[in-house]
Amino acid sequence: MRHCLVPTLALALLCMASVGCGPHGETGVPEGQDKPWAELDESERMQHMGAVVMPRMQAVFQGHDPKRFANFGCATCHGGGSANGDFTMPNPALPTLDASNLYKKHRKESPEMTKLMWKEVEPAMGESLALTYGLGDAQFTCANCHIVENAD
Ligand code: HEC
Ligand code: HEC
Repeated sequence: MRHCLVPTLALALLCMASVGCGPHGETGVPEGQDKPWAELDESERMQHMGAVVMPRMQAVFQGHDPKRFANFGCATCHGGGSANGDFTMPNPALPTLDASNLYKKHRKESPEMTKLMWKEVEPAMGESLALTYGLGDAQFTCANCHIVENAD
């Protein structure tokens, strides 16, 4: 069992108020499927991405910034290789993240996007795949999409 070790009061408050110290959600069977994400084969995953992930995540990204994400598609998360069937994650074309102090660098440099990622993208994606998400030993984290450095 890992605990959320928070060095300052500010981080402690952030942790309690908006992030939560442990994983959220439950491991289960994703909407429309009959077995867990880990057991789906490539074509079932593909189908699930189109039927469940795309509409849900498009609403999250375009709800935040319709202009920036006007062309939302598989490539927004998977990168240019997805046009040739390469869906490898994490996607090195997304910004590499520094996880130190609960992603402090990113909370400073891009507060709105980091908040969106934390409060909406990660939860919606974790729920779409029926995986636990958040901190601690969550199954689905920032590192499923981004390359993450300095993770504890
Ligand atoms: C919002 C981001 C996002 C979008 C949009 C998205 N995906 Fe994904 N996709 C992911 C993530 C994250 C994973 C990896 C989940 C994991 O860690 O197992 C994934 C996994 C996959 C996989 C399985 C890859 C493997 O090696 O297991 C396939 C295939 C896939 N996506 C296809 C698609 C297709 C096709 C589309 C467009 C219709 C799409 N994805 C749209 C985030 C996204
Ligand atoms: C489902 C995949 C996914 C997950 C999970 C995810 N991100 Fe992202 N992230 C993206 C995509 C897609 C973009 C936008 C790329 C673009 O602008 O086209 C992005 C962009 C960012 C940016 C760039 C902000 C900017 O202003 O350009 C930061 C910082 C970021 N994410 C941090 C995080 C953090 C921190 C987490 C974990 C709490 C996280 N992300 C989880 C997919 C993801």
